[in-house]
Amino acid sequence: MNAPAPIPTRVTAMLGIRYPILVAPMFLVSTPELLLAVAEAGAIAAIPSLNFRTHEAFAAFLEAFPDRPFGVNLILKDNPRLKEDLDAVVRRRVPLVITSLGDPGPVVERVKAYGGRVFADVVGLRHAKKAAERGVDALIAVAAGAGGHAGTVSPFVLAPWLAEATGLPVVAAGGLATGRQLLAALALSDAGYFGTRFIATPESGADDAYKRMLIEATPEDVVYTAEVTGVPANFLASSLARFRQGGKPWKEVYSAGHSVAFVREVVPARTLVWRIAEEYHRAKAALP
Ligand SMILES: Cc1cc2nc3c(=O)[nH]c(=O)nc-3n(C[C@H](O)[C@H](O)[C@H](O)COP(=O)(O)O)c2cc1C
Repeated sequence: MNAPAPIPTRVTAMLGIRYPILVAPMFLVSTPELLLAVAEAGAIAAIPSLNFRTHEAFAAFLEAFPDRPFGVNLILKDNPRLKEDLDAVVRRRVPLVITSLGDPGPVVERVKAYGGRVFADVVGLRHAKKAAERGVDALIAVAAGAGGHAGTVSPFVLAPWLAEATGLPVVAAGGLATGRQLLAALALSDAGYFGTRFIATPESGADDAYKRMLIEATPEDVVYTAEVTGVPANFLASSLARFRQGGKPWKEVYSAGHSVAFVREVVPARTLVWRIAEEYHRAKAALP
């Protein structure tokens, strides 16, 4: 398969990528291999700094990662490693930093100083406005149905609402797995954020049982609950039973969003990016 034609938007211009496809940071799932495969396909993926057990391991990853587009996710709240991980991000001049849960102000100042981009992940207007005031480059609108800590507002409403209120570029998140959906997302925003779909790739850190359960699940098997982490998040119902028996959140209690509807096989990440781009072009050409 040859690389599909580029899909230029404000966000691809900002990040220097070919397709407006951002592979979302996922705790215990994102790996350096996934980041590399996605970058080679012409998109960008991010990894939570906390996927590395120690700050030293995170810093070693940053030093070793080649000169390609990639992102790091920093959790801003209750994260004892934030300062040293941010220092390492600044030293490495990481092209994209995705912030979640907290005030992105201090991160924006330091990342913008070297020309990096900061995208803030938000679920509503209050945080979106605060992040915009702090000078983030774009917002990630995490809607209802997303994997991980999801919002409650419909994806049809959240991204265009936040764009209208702030004037910032917006990345639509929640439920995206196909190129047809990316086409719909680009009618309402500037890029698509894909999490759940990329769990089922050989490059992800998810174990085989997780990938199998994901492939078998339907959106009706996805349960939105705060019982696992204290913050409402989406989990696969069959794995939730394990939580009640002492299973470890994220590792044995599997998170996924409504896009499980379209996850039917494990596909290499590079093929998946190209497949989504190709489907986008076909769906666009077939629009009434
Ligand atoms: C298993 C899993 C782990 C996640 N971990 C994180 C995380 O550590 N940090 C973060 O900002 N978002 C995390 N998320 C949320 C994703 O970044 C993203 O918002 C979401 O997956 C998008 O929705 P989708 O899964 O419907 O594509 C996680 C999502 C999943 C499914």
